[in-house]
Amino acid sequence: MCGIVAYIGPREAYPILIKGLKRLEYRGYDSAGVALLNGDLNIYKKKGKVSDLEEATKGKDTHSHLGMGHTRWATHGEPNDKNSHPHVSQSGDIAIIHNGIIENYGTLKEELINRGHEFKSDTDTEVLVHLIEDVQQNTGVALDEAVRLALQEVVGAYAIVIISKNDPTKMIGARKGSPMVVGIGEDGEYFIASDATPIIEYTKNVTYLNDGEIAFIKDGKLSVKTINNVEKTPYIETLEMNLEAIEKGGYEHFMLKEIHEQPRSIYDSLRGRFNPNTGSFAMRSLKEYEGKIKNLNRIIIVGCGTSWHAGLVGEYLFEDIARIPVEVEYASEFRYRNPVINEDDLVIAISQSGETADTLAAIELAKEKGATIFGLCNVVGSSIPRASHAGAYTHAGPEIGVASTKAFTAQVSILTLWAYGFAEIRGKATKEQLRNAFAEMETIPDKVKKALECEAQVIEIARTFSEVHNALYLGRGYGFPVALEGALKLKEISYIHAEGYPAAEMKHGPIALIDENMPVVVIATKGNIYEKVISNIQEVKARKGKIIAIVTEGDTKVRAMADYTIEIPETSEFLEPLVSTIPLQLLSYHVAVNRGCNVDQPRNLAKSVTVE
Ligand code: F6R
Repeated sequence: MCGIVAYIGPREAYPILIKGLKRLEYRGYDSAGVALLNGDLNIYKKKGKVSDLEEATKGKDTHSHLGMGHTRWATHGEPNDKNSHPHVSQSGDIAIIHNGIIENYGTLKEELINRGHEFKSDTDTEVLVHLIEDVQQNTGVALDEAVRLALQEVVGAYAIVIISKNDPTKMIGARKGSPMVVGIGEDGEYFIASDATPIIEYTKNVTYLNDGEIAFIKDGKLSVKTINNVEKTPYIETLEMNLEAIEKGGYEHFMLKEIHEQPRSIYDSLRGRFNPNTGSFAMRSLKEYEGKIKNLNRIIIVGCGTSWHAGLVGEYLFEDIARIPVEVEYASEFRYRNPVINEDDLVIAISQSGETADTLAAIELAKEKGATIFGLCNVVGSSIPRASHAGAYTHAGPEIGVASTKAFTAQVSILTLWAYGFAEIRGKATKEQLRNAFAEMETIPDKVKKALECEAQVIEIARTFSEVHNALYLGRGYGFPVALEGALKLKEISYIHAEGYPAAEMKHGPIALIDENMPVVVIATKGNIYEKVISNIQEVKARKGKIIAIVTEGDTKVRAMADYTIEIPETSEFLEPLVSTIPLQLLSYHVAVNRGCNVDQPRNLAKSVTVE
């Protein structure tokens, strides 16, 4: 939902901004723009990708040591040049970039129009920069103070950067509800960005702004204060991310790289968190919240999209293994439906980005009602872990492809650990059971590696199905959330309509869709309900549907019925989603590539959904 990057210091700003915007493009790619201060304020902005902006600035004056850039995911105002950021104040002296939504922009705009302001765009953002100049002119205060006072009038979410022609050694950043990190480089240089990816190449020293804080960078010094004028000491931390993690590393797309990274990302997510010899855990969330876990009545899992699917796997795991009742809720529904929730509930909020606005709002609601919150996130320092009482990071490494892949398997890995941890605390799992479970979990990275070997076969299957208009994904038990996830992957990156269904539900409606043109992907691995799934496959075959079955290595029964079978290594049922999801990710990827789709940046989507 919009990416922002800014630089002040001895280097040329423009190349840093362009490179940074390319790294942030996963957040939105409707338009891109830069503002470069060099005596004058040069603003270049363009509908489309960062590469379009680069093209448009060819031969133009881009020399500057203070500048900022923006890549947009449109909310207010259609994607076009005029609505692209940066926006400028009435005089044209102050420029702003913004990620978020100014909710009361309508009223503010009306007041400003009455005071003679003229607006050039349809955006909420332009209102804020006019307001800042208006405050400055009416009160005579310095830019710092004008920004602070203007922000007091704003309702909504923002991460903004402000620069002014009249203050050429100053850069101001502020955040509320949208992420912002400040990088502290060499020789008094500073960076501001939506996440650390544009910064990592230059410095590992960063500070994450808290909600309601403003960073003032002037003459090589950083100071932070709140909107209410309280001075803060910035907490400087060292980034653990490395540059390779955010580059394609020889793969054609980030999504493919991330699919192939899963043996490692699952390993990293599990590493050091359990001891297979003793059957013990090393997770702070389990240790510090042992009493709470022992006595809780219910777990509510909230998330959106793929994270919600991981939550569904979590429901099966917690109920199966720890015997705790679980509800899984779309964060966007939960927050608006007056849920019954109290201090005996534990809410697990799952989010790759840690910034999803609906999930964040669901946490706030649950906190108000006294629930304990565990955050399960991938992006270190993001808003959801900060808003949670405890939790765990998934350690999947940066996920840049818009379609979530390695984050899903990392989330499911941690949920599995928690389910066992909760089970032990509540007397539902013995050390022996834990040792066995851990031993099996340790084999998962290798099994995922083996599952990835199906790629050549998947490429063949993808060739056959690339032109279809619809697809059905079926699964039962642990296979059901995997079917949902497989369908989501296909629709979001290939734009083929796909539905995930519990296999037995098919006969209550979707079976009407089946004919010889309908590919039906079935999770038909060996387990408790294998025979039942076979019956469902027969129902599809009787109606001439085309079956693509994910089966356990060595399976012959399903092979005899299905049009295509993809084998995965045998695994306990509770760990199967980690393996069976792999061929589905590959299938959606290769179908999308065959259709010429932009896999890493599918239309209309953004990686981090910071608006509701
Ligand atoms: C699907 C996808 C989205 C996200 C959803 C939640 O591939 O990427 O459905 O899963 O927007 O995002 P996070 O996990 O960042 O809260």
